[in-house]
Amino acid sequence: MAFMKKYLLPILGIFLAYYYYSANEEFRPEMLRGKRVIVTGASKGIGREMAYHLARMGAHVVVTARSEEALKKVVSSCLELGASSAHYVAGTMENMTFAEQFVAKAGKLMGGLDMLILNHITNTPLTLICNDAHLVRRTMEVNFLSYVVMSMAALPMLKQSNGSIVVVSSIAGKVASPLVAAYSASKFALDGFFSSVRVEYSVAKVNVSITVCILGLIDTDTAMTVVDGVFNAKASPKEECALEIIKGGALRQNEVYYDSSALTPLLLGNPGRKIMEFFLLQKYNMERFINH
Ligand SMILES: NC(=O)c1ccc[n+]([C@@H]2O[C@H](COP(=O)([O-])OP(=O)(O)OC[C@H]3O[C@@H](n4cnc5c(N)ncnc54)[C@H](OP(=O)(O)O)[C@@H]3O)[C@@H](O)[C@H]2O)c1
Ligand SMILES: *[C@@H]1O[C@H](CO)[C@@H](O)[C@H](O)[C@H]1NC(C)=O
Ligand SMILES: *[C@@H]1O[C@H](CO)[C@@H](O)[C@H](O)[C@H]1NC(C)=O
Ligand SMILES: *[C@@H]1O[C@H](CO)[C@@H](O)[C@H](O)[C@H]1NC(C)=O
Repeated sequence: MAFMKKYLLPILGIFLAYYYYSANEEFRPEMLRGKRVIVTGASKGIGREMAYHLARMGAHVVVTARSEEALKKVVSSCLELGASSAHYVAGTMENMTFAEQFVAKAGKLMGGLDMLILNHITNTPLTLICNDAHLVRRTMEVNFLSYVVMSMAALPMLKQSNGSIVVVSSIAGKVASPLVAAYSASKFALDGFFSSVRVEYSVAKVNVSITVCILGLIDTDTAMTVVDGVFNAKASPKEECALEIIKGGALRQNEVYYDSSALTPLLLGNPGRKIMEFFLLQKYNMERFINH
């Protein structure tokens, strides 16, 4: 009976709460109307599709990537599609100063921030890991460190708006992935960092949601070129993928799964991890770190 009280009831509680919350909310495009949103890596691919969806929903958007010409076109399409406002700032996320200042600029352009969508990645060749520590460093800096820098720079604005951080990751951020070891490492790092920060926010009552998106193969030009003849899997459409990411962010979900196989969320959902996280948290004296 003591065992029941100590372990089973809380577990049951967690899962009932989980199902209650996930079943009870429904996405409405109006949720994004007038919201101020940053999308990184938005010159093409999934990022550009997200900018287009947000524009149709009437959001304010600031997009970024390196290629200025492509960003100009994205901004003018966003304005045609109905964005409340649309701007771009071009630069490389290899430069952490740029990453930080970009968030400040975007915040000024929109008068605050409701949603930070982190989506860009550095070029990822499919290759056996070789003597190229530079590639690993660049991958960790662009795919991981710049996400950390930007989320820290955005936090004061996100606290003010009860906003959201949306992190675009991959199945390679949950399972071993040959030929993309550095990419996989950067995506695992995002999971470790942002899942830990999510727990800190919940304990500290910081009402900023963190959504990590686990995507399967998506039919962007980049991905289709890179996997050609090497990796055989069914690719899902980038337009729908982009919409699912925005929905998950707006509904403040912890994770979004989007893959051609319906088994993926079941296999990667990992109840063991959730239970461990719940019980480990009980062992911390978090009080000491929280300002009342
Ligand atoms: N497509 C897939 O199959 C797939 C699967 C799982 C996860 N994902 C994830 O989905 C996200 C988007 O992927 P995608 O397929 O849409 O990629 P994509 O089409 O290649 O777009 C990548 C974006 O990042 C920008 N970028 C590249 N290097 C940059 C740098 N150094 N600094 C700043 N921006 C840079 C690119 O623009 P510029 O070149 O102009 O800078 C572009 O806008 C990524 O996080 C990826 O890991 C994709
Ligand atoms: C990094 O970005 C900042 C801000 O945009 C810029 O002033 C600086 O020159 C950049 N550094 C490099 C090495 O390009
Ligand atoms: C944020 O949420 C708090 C409750 O947690 C509420 O009092 C406040 O009005 C909200 N602020 C905004 C801008 O929605
Ligand atoms: C957190 O913010 C969201 C969005 O504004 C709001 O719906 C929710 O009630 C807030 N939660 C708490 C606990 O204040």
